[in-house]
Amino acid sequence: MINGIKPLERSLRWGMVGGGGTSQIGYIHRSAALRDGTFSLVAGAFDIDAQRGRLFGQSLGIAAERCYPDYATLFREEAARVDGIEAVSIATPNNTHFAICQAALAAGLHVVCEKPLCFTVEEAQALVELSQKQHKIIGVTYGYAGHQLILQARQMIADGLLGEIRIINMQFAHGFHAAAVELDNPSTRWRVDPRFVGPSYVLGDLATHPLFLAETMVPQLKVKRLMCSRQSFVKTRAPLEDNAYVLMEYDNGAVGSLWCSAVNSGSMHGQKVRIVGEKASLEWWDEQPNQLRFEVQGEPVRILERGMSYLDPIALADDRIGGGHSEGLFEAWSNLYRRFALAMDATDRRDRDFLADFWYPDVAAGTMGGRWVENCVRSADAGASWVEFR
Ligand code: NAI
Repeated sequence: MINGIKPLERSLRWGMVGGGGTSQIGYIHRSAALRDGTFSLVAGAFDIDAQRGRLFGQSLGIAAERCYPDYATLFREEAARVDGIEAVSIATPNNTHFAICQAALAAGLHVVCEKPLCFTVEEAQALVELSQKQHKIIGVTYGYAGHQLILQARQMIADGLLGEIRIINMQFAHGFHAAAVELDNPSTRWRVDPRFVGPSYVLGDLATHPLFLAETMVPQLKVKRLMCSRQSFVKTRAPLEDNAYVLMEYDNGAVGSLWCSAVNSGSMHGQKVRIVGEKASLEWWDEQPNQLRFEVQGEPVRILERGMSYLDPIALADDRIGGGHSEGLFEAWSNLYRRFALAMDATDRRDRDFLADFWYPDVAAGTMGGRWVENCVRSADAGASWVEFR
């Protein structure tokens, strides 16, 4: 159980790129990183508008001279200080992630980056190599993965409670962009513009989340080939899709499907993962994150509740309050940031034993997302044909 005691003796000196006062996601990064005292926010380049970013940083209590106009200046100036930042989080539009990650690693910083980490297999490989060379981690904020019942599902599957895995059904299908809301909403506008998001909208923006949840639950399964069909129901979004279906075949003979959509009218989030084995199934839904459905063939459905002693220790370890109380996305993100801090500290100490068994959404998770989107786009652009996963 997490009870507020700092898990590290120190706080990592931390900065942010993006996530400014007008952003959607900056606040949850700060809330999560600062929750357990593992990070202290001392610098940033928070906004594409330098003046707005400076004022915002100062309003957070950061010294004026450490509120920088852009990320290059942030990395250069902080590297010159004895008390410069050790880690940075990147919460900017998608097209900037790769370049900012590269620059941060080159400056000797640990990185937490938003998804999608990058757009191509080549970019992914470059980040893996640079992070290894620099002995720095990249954590990726697949925030839903911080919900404790995701690790409960992982353990139950590893323990064989489902038997051989046959089917994985994933979806992230909300209705918030059923109409062209981008005309009035700047945070949506860049999401449907290829200059900012590369080759995809919902595949990169939404699908990478349940894809990673399923990867976490069933890490042994590898995608062998896939087929993707994508549509732009709001016509002005073409060639970017606002709806897509992906079918997958895995190396053990299992099959999977993933529906991602921003035009699922009436749906709030609709992010679900259902893992079907030969004996039983598990299902998790992000709108009820404190419950996990466990359905054994021929028996009544069981609803496993967060925080209860019948859960595996791996799921109980991240509890922040006893069962019955609701935990939510902010707690899930805090769990991830806590893990990022522990991984950064262990990496700095070259503690390979600790890291060998330690789970967090890492550079491999981020690169898988980028690769997967690239393969989906290749399939969709070839008329929804099956393509080998590469
Ligand atoms: P947003 O458009 O609301 O905010 C972007 C922020 O980045 C703004 O403060 C903007 O001024 C700043 N910015 C843009 N370019 C910059 C640059 N070159 N240098 C410094 N600051 C810059 O976008 P939103 O929704 O907050 O998304 C940001 C990222 O977070 C995206 O990659 C998105 O995919 C991801 N995201 C992840 C979620 C998750 O669950 N992990 C949920 C929502 C967004």
